[in-house]
Amino acid sequence: MARVRTAVLISGRGSNLQALIAVTRPADYPAEIALVVSNRPDAEGLGHATEAGIASQVVDHGAYAGPDGSAARAAFDRALTGALEATGIELICLAGFMRVLTGDFAAHWRDRLINIHPSLLPAFPGLDTHARALAAGVKLHGCTVHYVREAVDSGPIIGQAAVPVLPEDTPDTLAARVLAMEHRLYPACLRLVAEGRAKVVGERVEIPAAPDGDARLMQPPA
Ligand code: GRF
Repeated sequence: MARVRTAVLISGRGSNLQALIAVTRPADYPAEIALVVSNRPDAEGLGHATEAGIASQVVDHGAYAGPDGSAARAAFDRALTGALEATGIELICLAGFMRVLTGDFAAHWRDRLINIHPSLLPAFPGLDTHARALAAGVKLHGCTVHYVREAVDSGPIIGQAAVPVLPEDTPDTLAARVLAMEHRLYPACLRLVAEGRAKVVGERVEIPAAPDGDARLMQPPA
């Protein structure tokens, strides 16, 4: 079986990367992580790639700074695409990648670029999602894996996982509960995408029912 050559893009800690490394290790998983890319040379997650024997590369956004912000952004994204295509990458997972990508990048990789976001989109796109969820008083919070479109944290939703918000929660305790679900949701969604079972139809994702369970909506463990 040919496995889908996948890149994981990170900026920091890389715990989602670790979850993806673990799940893709068996040869019968439909995707393999062929490359890890960080836009920050000091990203902790680069060490996880090295430990796992996975090739990694730094495309330092700092090297693309210039007086014209949008030209710099476009040059960075072209460098990124160059690195990915040189490695024969077919699918990209953003996993805590803290750079906003250009519309051209999203268009080039359309339906081959997925992201995990720590909220139940379309609620709370952007940063500080856990504090904002607490401030809004929502009773359910969670995470979303979606195909990437030009607008930040938008695009067809592949899967979501929900957790309860508890009265005593702080942003940190809520983040930890959501993160545990991220580590289950992302591997399940990557499998669906790599198997070609998460098809975009009219900007919604259609997933045929599967005998082995349904990864579209994940519940926290009882
Ligand atoms: C995760 O919460 C992810 O959803 C968000 O950034 C965080 C990255 O964490 N986009 P890690 O680097 O995977 O540990």
